Amino acid sequence: MCTMLQSLILTLALLLCRCLAVDDDPHPTLPGPRTPVPSLYHQRYSEQTFIGTHDSVAVRTAENRWSLSGNQYFNVSVQLQAGVRLLQAQGHRDPDGSSEIRLCHFNCALMDGGSLVDHLRTVKRFLDANPHELITLLFVNTGPALEHWAQAYFSTGLDLLSYIPPQSKRDGYMHLEDWPTIADMVSTNQRLVTFLSGGADEGRVPYLLHQWDYVFETNFGIESPEQYSCAPARPRWWDPSYIPSRLSLVNHFLYAQFLGFRYPNATYANTTNAAGFHVGELGEHAVRCQSVYQRRPNFLLLDFFSEGQAFEVEHGMNAY
Ligand SMILES: *[C@@H]1O[C@H](CO)[C@@H](O)[C@H](O)[C@H]1NC(C)=O
Ligand SMILES: *[C@@H]1O[C@H](CO)[C@@H](O)[C@H](O)[C@H]1NC(C)=O
Ligand SMILES: *[C@@H]1O[C@H](CO)[C@@H](O)[C@H](O)[C@H]1NC(C)=O
Repeated sequence: MCTMLQSLILTLALLLCRCLAVDDDPHPTLPGPRTPVPSLYHQRYSEQTFIGTHDSVAVRTAENRWSLSGNQYFNVSVQLQAGVRLLQAQGHRDPDGSSEIRLCHFNCALMDGGSLVDHLRTVKRFLDANPHELITLLFVNTGPALEHWAQAYFSTGLDLLSYIPPQSKRDGYMHLEDWPTIADMVSTNQRLVTFLSGGADEGRVPYLLHQWDYVFETNFGIESPEQYSCAPARPRWWDPSYIPSRLSLVNHFLYAQFLGFRYPNATYANTTNAAGFHVGELGEHAVRCQSVYQRRPNFLLLDFFSEGQAFEVEHGMNAY
């Protein structure tokens, strides 16, 4: 992982390269409309594929000079409008010492994606405006206390919109067939599912779910297009050759290397997120995981979701 100094050197080095190029700036465009699959409404939450954004709040724009710390080209409200249904981010303690949680990329000095409360407000606005939609939030908890997470939910009213699993299903007892259908979640207005990577305690805050009791993930940190795997890499208590009856999160994003530093590979994103079946493309990875899991992968987590054809892949997964 980059330290601040390393990242500074990298930024300077790439700025230098950029001065030599004619027009090296990206020209991000929004993807075409997402095509929903209506029959999924009466299937379980655990039976569908959703597109997710890795580091959803780390956005590269012309204003931040296409910061290398950014993983997306469009902000969270645009992501949701476009059809993204899982937002991933890291929660950090406020460097200024308040109880406010900041959503940052590794380090708040590198890129501060705003406060958790503002992020949740954006999510709440979308859920209010779209009463049949459902969102999943996935947070890496780098340290803030559980009560500060809960405070942000309480102050935005999202605690009341959150899905709470039955008490008997906590601690790893929630299997795929225990999840409700989308229709159920809409009719009970429990349309937000939140997973925390650490620090959850469902006895105290029942809607902040301990990620590893409900979800397994494939490996990440991929630096070469042929390295994408479907095997459960985390939590480590699952044997990688065994597919547990839990939600699956498929990490599908590529890092670039420069002088030994690692940062998101933006130039290759249109291939990384392509719907085709060549090595390194999202379509190939999703279909492979579907075959390994004998069911749809649940979350496809992407950098630069707007590049390539992520929603075509989602539709392909959900329609068949
Ligand atoms: C996201 O970007 C859009 C379009 O640029 C803008 O209208 C909107 O206010 C932004 N939303 C947030 C939460 O910053
Ligand atoms: C991005 O990935 C592609 C495919 O592996 C590679 O050819 C390219 O050099 C990478 N870009 C950078 C900036 O490393
Ligand atoms: C992907 O983007 C690169 C650089 O922007 C472009 O040269 C290439 O043609 C694009 N590939 C596809 C398949 O769209």
